[in-house]
Amino acid sequence: MTAEVINGQELASNLREKMKQEVAALNNNKIFPKLTVILIGDDPASQSYVKGKHKACNEAGIISEIIRKDASISEAELLAEIDCLNNDETVHGILVQLPIPKHIDEQKVIEAIDPKKDVDGFHPINVGKMMTGQETFLPCTPHGILQMIQSKQIETEGKYAVVIGRSNIVGKPVGQLLLNENATVTYCHSRTNNMKDITKQADILIVAVGKEHVIDASYVKEGAVVIDVGVNRTKEGTLTGDVDFEDVKQVASYITPVPKGVGPMTITMLLRNTIEAAKRIEQ
Ligand code: GUN
Repeated sequence: MTAEVINGQELASNLREKMKQEVAALNNNKIFPKLTVILIGDDPASQSYVKGKHKACNEAGIISEIIRKDASISEAELLAEIDCLNNDETVHGILVQLPIPKHIDEQKVIEAIDPKKDVDGFHPINVGKMMTGQETFLPCTPHGILQMIQSKQIETEGKYAVVIGRSNIVGKPVGQLLLNENATVTYCHSRTNNMKDITKQADILIVAVGKEHVIDASYVKEGAVVIDVGVNRTKEGTLTGDVDFEDVKQVASYITPVPKGVGPMTITMLLRNTIEAAKRIEQ
């Protein structure tokens, strides 16, 4: 078997084209969706992600503002900045790029953002709404993954989904979204025993480990759908996933590449949430 590649770049581009029209229609009604990103310090990966978000916003007609802060910023200063954005009626979406410096309490920062402007979907109120199946801002990477699966009409109901990884940003919420779609979900992580025995049963395998090519074909059932969330920089400076693409492609039915897989869909779902935030706040 050779897997069909789910091209995240292509799907993202189609969705963004529709969003561009949606934003233009909102502009006609004097609504100008705006995202403000706070970027702290000079981590190259964070800078690159924020640049990608800024470019995508501009292309879709969403106003994008980046507030850069030195890594020495105090927690109080950051919380005051967030409070200011919460009260700024021109700002619809607020995103603090993670990770943030260790002297600042990340959870305090997440909880300081007005849930109505929390386009990351990280605020406990929005996490709770997602868990209970209520309409809310869905976290961008998990939502993008679901869209990729659904774009190929892949059935989730009754399927066995295995998630490798349990981060608050990807692992935990993607499992929850698959559960909401009636999949049976198991989480694997660094302390899981006999992981291969579990992953080899998965109809849908989500890999969010953060280590280059750790999942080869020996972890994958014939015909499984494999979603690679990894973004690892190789020694040569290129990007590659957590999945050994060439090997797994031989056994999977569908596979996502890195780059041009989940990454562009994450940004697209951020645009989606920003447009939704503008609609909810203004209408
Ligand atoms: N850092 C890596 N991914 C993300 C994300 O989705 N949102 C934020 N705020 N920071 C991140």
